[in-house]
Amino acid sequence: MASKKSEKLRIGLFGFGVVGQGLFEVLQNVQTAEAVIKTICIKDPDKKRKADPNLFTLDPEQILNDPDINLVVELIDDADRAYEIVRSALTRGKSVVSGNKKMLAHHLNELIELQETFGAALLYDASACGSIPVIRNLEEYYDNDLLQSITGILNGSSNYILSRIFSDNMGYDEALAEAQALGFAESDPVFDVEGFDSLYKSVILALHGIGTLVDPDEVVNFGISNLSSHDVLFAKEKGCRIKLVAEIRKLPDEKFTFFVMPKLVWPDAYIFNVEDEYNGVVIEGQFYDKQFMFGKGAGGHPTGSAVLSDITARKHNYRYEYKKRNFFNPPYYSRDWVIEVYLRYHDVLDLSHFDFETITEKYSGPKFNYVIGRIKLEDIYRIKKLLPRLNVFLASTGK
Ligand code: HSE
Repeated sequence: MASKKSEKLRIGLFGFGVVGQGLFEVLQNVQTAEAVIKTICIKDPDKKRKADPNLFTLDPEQILNDPDINLVVELIDDADRAYEIVRSALTRGKSVVSGNKKMLAHHLNELIELQETFGAALLYDASACGSIPVIRNLEEYYDNDLLQSITGILNGSSNYILSRIFSDNMGYDEALAEAQALGFAESDPVFDVEGFDSLYKSVILALHGIGTLVDPDEVVNFGISNLSSHDVLFAKEKGCRIKLVAEIRKLPDEKFTFFVMPKLVWPDAYIFNVEDEYNGVVIEGQFYDKQFMFGKGAGGHPTGSAVLSDITARKHNYRYEYKKRNFFNPPYYSRDWVIEVYLRYHDVLDLSHFDFETITEKYSGPKFNYVIGRIKLEDIYRIKKLLPRLNVFLASTGK
């Protein structure tokens, strides 16, 4: 329950990278947050930082052991260290705000239990879709059984790269370098461009939107690093764009599925005009059709603003109730679902790994070949580990 007069928040911040610094600057510009950063724990003492040097420490215990600090904000990019920090803070009864989607996607089961055992809360709206308040909306507004699907562009970096390629004819490497320089990409950009970042975010969205926590290893993710000029030309000739999309969908018989894959997106889709580092999430439900959330998905200030929103939510003692998981019968995750894909390949040996149920279009030319056909997600999952080694590009057609 929210108390009218709550305690001032004294924050221990882990990490002063793009988002940590973004939060710091956002906090300096708000009058009413009633939250102050007391200590910042960093890894590298030699980096130049735009903040009072007395705030910094290299010792996590200076935050975790400080009884005066009543909120831990974890914004580091090392998922294993983040897990140790969050675990340690919760077990000491300190509430936490985290932005680490990989850590959350792998450890939420345990972290939910720790919240219950020790009474502390863990908030992480900033972990998915940057500034878009998607998690809290799924938790609070979509708190019933009507939701049928969540489809979206969840990764700002890959969307930025695709925008540069499609709108400016820029090369892939140059576009990626720009996304890194602008602070959108993770320190290891493979995370962004191979769809892992979107995968972890969709694990979190599926938990709050559907109620089921899925092991990320069980989910098909394919990224954009193999995109070639042939694929861009193919899409342009057909009048569509290619976006990296996460799709979470309820199926008949108490099941649901999800996957992350490039998608051929047509002009009538809500996400067609989502460009640059913006993210867009389409929520579809029984009786209310489609709704669309749109906003900046990456960058220090937009993501810092989302962290501030979690901090302010803690001020009012807000915590996630995991309503779908706790008060409904969550559906089972399944890969028993057939989708239509565009598969561009070079070598027929690569094609032979794909077990198409039907083929609707086939092209063989001097420079590249493709098939469009229907294939079961389970049959793509079977070759998930092999996929990065094949010279192919895969995109769902949305049919
Ligand atoms: N690297 C992430 C992205 C940052 O590009 O979306 C925000 O989660």
